[in-house]
Amino acid sequence: MKVLVVGTGAREHAICDALKDDVELYAYMSKNNPGIAKISTYKIGDEGEVDKVAEFAKENGIELAVIGPEAPLGKGIVNALEDVGVPCVGPAQESARIETDKSFMRNLFEKYEIAGSVVYKVFDNFDDIDKFLDEFDRDVVVKPVGLTGGKGVKIVGDHLRDNQDAKLYAKEVFETEMGGFAKVILEEKIVGEEFTIQAFCDGEHLVAMPAAQDHPHAFENDQGLITGGMGSYTDTDGLLPFLSQEDYDAAVAIMKDTLKAIAKETTPYKGILYGQFMLSKDGPKLIEYNARFGDPECMNVLPLLKTPMIDICKDIVAGELKEAEFEDLATVCKYIVPDGYPDTPHAGEIVEVDEEGIEKLGAKVYYAAVNEEDDGIHLSGSRALGIIAKGKTIAEAEEIAEKACGLVKGNVYHRRDVGTEALLQKRVDHMKSILDE
Ligand code: GLY
Repeated sequence: MKVLVVGTGAREHAICDALKDDVELYAYMSKNNPGIAKISTYKIGDEGEVDKVAEFAKENGIELAVIGPEAPLGKGIVNALEDVGVPCVGPAQESARIETDKSFMRNLFEKYEIAGSVVYKVFDNFDDIDKFLDEFDRDVVVKPVGLTGGKGVKIVGDHLRDNQDAKLYAKEVFETEMGGFAKVILEEKIVGEEFTIQAFCDGEHLVAMPAAQDHPHAFENDQGLITGGMGSYTDTDGLLPFLSQEDYDAAVAIMKDTLKAIAKETTPYKGILYGQFMLSKDGPKLIEYNARFGDPECMNVLPLLKTPMIDICKDIVAGELKEAEFEDLATVCKYIVPDGYPDTPHAGEIVEVDEEGIEKLGAKVYYAAVNEEDDGIHLSGSRALGIIAKGKTIAEAEEIAEKACGLVKGNVYHRRDVGTEALLQKRVDHMKSILDE
């Protein structure tokens, strides 16, 4: 079967890797990702030019497409591909609004009385925010409506000093129309531990994957800016050291109710649904949805998949999704980024990756924002590659991943603390202190 994967990053490399043994693999990517290039017939082009992607699919007789990133989903890539007869693992533009339009998502929770929502309000002008924040007695999160590449959300107590500071930021969002929409959502800030659940969806049925935890701060001990995630882990039982089966089930129930609500409201949702939750003292609260796999969390779950990925993809497009089996192993993923990230002082420099040595250790490399040229692999300003290791425990996976990170040479950095005993204990203690309050 001819299968096309759209996207350039480590997430898409992991998707390609999960498919490569069972299909004739094609890729459409904006940079020359060396990992994807090695295993596919590919075209370098802008993934956001959805009609060109559809043309490429048609010319090559593609029979199924898997869409990696959110931006083309927001531009209707699935609609364009379906118009030329290519079924997709990825939602149509209307249902991708679960990610691309945060007010659509919150309104859906309200209308269909879905559990796990938070107090929120949508604003279309600054004066109303000004008045609202003078009265609101809890800390807030400011979210520009629309896609901001994960960088537009700011939290009081984290990036913002207080609700007055939140006002200044909201004003800036309106003035610059950040995200392309002149709207802002204010949400109450929920205190707890964040976790991710990714699920396969066929419009009606949802099959959840193991829970993961990402590390969005740039530096160790959760310091620095919130960036693209710096690493993530999963545990052997599909739960997390601070997450019980009951909490996991409650989060999955929220996702199932969301899937049903989308089908009542608009085009049924087919593809990957990514739920980002905060485990609070009142159980899981939905922070946001993404209409795609998580990055890095995709790299944790796909290497554990025992059911062939292509079978799951076929079931998704046929609306006959049944199950997905995963190995009972832990994983740790660490992202290697250029020194100074999220600034870009080393963009263009070469990074040396001893892939063979990494594989000998039992780890894997998934390439992200790099570009392979004749003289080697060049860094861009963003995350360069993910290293993922499996183990019988998180500790075992962490040790392998850490050794493998040592086989990447250049002006690069990674968070050594992702998946360590000390950081896991900090998460467990934090959750315990919240529950004991
Ligand atoms: N892990 C965050 C994201 O995928 O958006």
